[in-house]
Amino acid sequence: MIPAAPLRVLIVEDSPLDADLLVRELRRGGLDVVCERVDTREGMAAALDGGAWDVVVSDYSMPRFSAPLALGLVKERGLDIPFIIVSGVIAEDTAVEAMRSGAHDFMAKGKLARLIPAIQRELRDAALRAERGRMQAEFDRENRRMREEVLRSELLATEARAARELAETRSALLFDIEQKHEALKAAQSQLVQAEKLAALGQTVAGVAHEINNPLAFVTNNLAVLQRDASALREVVALYREADRVPDGEKDAVRARIRTLDERFDLEYTLGNLDALIVRSREGLQRIRQIVSDLREFARLDEGDLQPADLNAGIESTLRILGGAAKRKGVDVVVDLGELPTVSCHPAKLNQVVMNLVNNALQACSPGGHVTVSTRRDGDVVLIRVVDDGAGIPEAIRAKIFDPFFTTKKQGEGIGLGLSISYGIVRDHGGRIEVEASSGAGTAFLVTLPLAAKPPASGA
Ligand SMILES: Nc1ncnc2c1ncn2[C@@H]1O[C@H](COP(=O)(O)OP(=O)(O)OP(=O)(O)O)[C@@H](O)[C@H]1O
Ligand SMILES: [Mg+2]
Repeated sequence: MIPAAPLRVLIVEDSPLDADLLVRELRRGGLDVVCERVDTREGMAAALDGGAWDVVVSDYSMPRFSAPLALGLVKERGLDIPFIIVSGVIAEDTAVEAMRSGAHDFMAKGKLARLIPAIQRELRDAALRAERGRMQAEFDRENRRMREEVLRSELLATEARAARELAETRSALLFDIEQKHEALKAAQSQLVQAEKLAALGQTVAGVAHEINNPLAFVTNNLAVLQRDASALREVVALYREADRVPDGEKDAVRARIRTLDERFDLEYTLGNLDALIVRSREGLQRIRQIVSDLREFARLDEGDLQPADLNAGIESTLRILGGAAKRKGVDVVVDLGELPTVSCHPAKLNQVVMNLVNNALQACSPGGHVTVSTRRDGDVVLIRVVDDGAGIPEAIRAKIFDPFFTTKKQGEGIGLGLSISYGIVRDHGGRIEVEASSGAGTAFLVTLPLAAKPPASGA
């Protein structure tokens, strides 16, 4: 396939005469030819780099150049140009070697008749090769495009799957978190209950002692009253008898009455009766108070908020702890200010006061003081528990509200008092904090809104 435009022939030849011969032969064959002759490496390189060539016709060996070197330059540039060797004398093995290294044809200088058909054949082949290359490139492009398409749709499918899985995982996680949250809440309320029982347990021994005292003297008084009553019955019976008997026997009965009177010291017995009854009543009243304090302290109020008199709750809680304070030799000072009714869970707040006062008593040495005071400050109520005990070292102050943090010996504390109290106060929308602490003692401050405002998260 000869191009319509002039055929661009690069001639590698040291002899201008031979080159001329060649061109003439081509023109004689009817070809429109433009050409350039080179016979050095540099010339060839410049020609290849300087323009496009349809065919290279090369002598085999030249003084400063050769066909294999020229072919090398063509290959180096990745050019697919028909390369035909036209040589004076050429050994057959040399020709075969040249063909093997990429020359397309070879012929002797004397037999140029084959040159034009060879050029035409090679141009056709080159065009075919170029077309095949184009098609291959097209095919590769299409192939790549399709692969990309497949990849893209796989990617989209994967993305959709991942998004679906993510959504499923997320809702499973949310469900899981919800369940754990519920379980935690249940565990926390069990803890609160357990801590309350433990606090009660601690105080039960003290309370038993408190009840025992009045119980013992009321029991005693009753025994005395029983004895006195039977003596009085005997005396009354004798008086009745003295009334009935004939006059002559009355003196004898009166004598018996006098004997009884002396034996029982009736005057003292009668004078003592009222006091016995009054003291017994007081004893019973104390027992009743203790029982009612216990009931007030421990009443179950898991349900709705109730209007409550915080001072009353604090007083009964302090009475329950009174025995323990007395035994330890710690003076509890109560300084309750006037408070409005507070909407709250009263028993839980009693528990907070009990925990704070217990801690304060435990921190004090005999002779120490604990002051519990309440005040209203605008729309909040302040409860302060101040002791002159050991104080809380700076290093542990950040940890005291953590569950199970304790500095006490086993059996003396499990480290839940403050953590539970913290939860209770927070659930009322209030604050509990260490207001001050030093080697000279500690002050805890509880701040409560007049109406409990549970935190919105409910957490
Ligand atoms: N008034 C205080 N003075 C000194 N230290 C205190 C006082 N109140 C609390 N602490 C410190 O804080 C720690 C934690 O108190 P918390 O009431 O939570 O637990 P606990 O008293 O050790 O045990 P529990 O209350 O469960 O019987 C205590 O162990 C103590 O070290
Ligand atoms: Mg405690």
